[in-house]
Amino acid sequence: MARFHNLTVTDIHKTIRDAVVVTLAPQNGAAAEFDYIPGQYLTFRRDFDGQELRRSYSICAGLDDGLLQVGIKRVDGGAFSSWANEELKPGDTLEAMPPMGKFHNPIDAKASKHYLGFAGGSGITPVLSILKTTLAREPASEFTLVYANRGVNTIMFREELEDLKNSYLGRLTIIHVLESDAQEIDLFTGMVTPEKCAQLFEHWIDIKSVDTAFICGPEPMMLGITKALHDHGLSDDQIKFELFGSGQPGRAARKASLKVEGETAKTTSATVTIDGTTRAFQMPKDGQTVLEAAIENNLDAPFACKAGVCSTCRAKVLEGEVEMVANHALEDYEVAQGYVLTCQCFPLTDKLVVDYDQ
Ligand SMILES: Cc1cc2nc3c(=O)[nH]c(=O)nc-3n(C[C@H](O)[C@H](O)[C@H](O)COP(=O)(O)OP(=O)(O)OC[C@H]3O[C@@H](n4cnc5c(N)ncnc54)[C@H](O)[C@@H]3O)c2cc1C
Ligand code: FES
Repeated sequence: MARFHNLTVTDIHKTIRDAVVVTLAPQNGAAAEFDYIPGQYLTFRRDFDGQELRRSYSICAGLDDGLLQVGIKRVDGGAFSSWANEELKPGDTLEAMPPMGKFHNPIDAKASKHYLGFAGGSGITPVLSILKTTLAREPASEFTLVYANRGVNTIMFREELEDLKNSYLGRLTIIHVLESDAQEIDLFTGMVTPEKCAQLFEHWIDIKSVDTAFICGPEPMMLGITKALHDHGLSDDQIKFELFGSGQPGRAARKASLKVEGETAKTTSATVTIDGTTRAFQMPKDGQTVLEAAIENNLDAPFACKAGVCSTCRAKVLEGEVEMVANHALEDYEVAQGYVLTCQCFPLTDKLVVDYDQ
């Protein structure tokens, strides 16, 4: 089970005015815990005026950079991102859980594939890590990146991307789409909509040759791009996406009726296992999630976003049924196997057995 570790900030610098790149070194011999797969993220925790906040940031370094690095873009009025941009400095200690997330694809040195990445704003961070590692470790593969930003000044990692383009001439194509800055080619101005994707696929990107697409950005943009990719023949398992925030109800929530026949009690006898420790307790069927009940009963249950986005709170239901009200993180096959996001789950049956260790 993932636990928090201390990491030292060894470097912090601006990539644009409103975003910092933070380099971290795990303390107390925990380096191996922070081995990561490109596309994964770290979840940090920090106390803000007596309230613990947990926030996730994707690793932006590639495996061959030999660094553990995240990029944090300041969100207006945002607690953690503003603090990181304004106050965090080298020598400070941050607490983070080991890398998590499933936004990745296996790297195969012999592969000769075409990958397509769509990133919006700070959504570039995991895509950059994947792009750098793939180009370095799959010498016959190519990568096309469509990177959407408001204007030139808000393009994170702009110089690094230019350098990569020069290093991987012929294998890396980058298309910057800018919402408000005019560009030589009209198609590259505006929002990345399904219509714009269709035009890009017609004139600039050979969509038929694409093996896998990675999408990370604001949810409406991601949904539009997913639609366009489907319309052009890509299947669900060829499309990987990572959501940074959540504004809408999720997809693939576990289908369950609100009432299960014969399950009449107002409370549930819950049995929860974490780190090999099992605890049994009563919890209400309404008003409290499985995660909240576990924490209230002194179990150290893991969580970060509490919004069904990050999957840190994932566990398996071994007995009983739950209603999962939002799911932006689990794949359909995981839901079918009984995995749930406990921050989004309410019990439906009189008995519930949940295991965080599986
Ligand atoms: C898997 C994952 C990976 C991510 N990777 C990255 C990454 O690589 N880089 C990156 O920059 N971000 C990333 N994010 C997003 C990041 O985790 C945070 O959500 C983001 O930085 C905002 O956090 P914050 O604490 O700064 O803002 P918050 O304090 O959570 O505020 C968010 C917004 O809500 C508003 N708000 C806050 N409190 C209130 C209130 N009481 N009333 C009304 N409005 C309010 C704020 O003004 C702000 O606009 C990722 C998220 C996930 C889930
Ligand atoms: S804590 Fe993020 S999905 Fe539950």
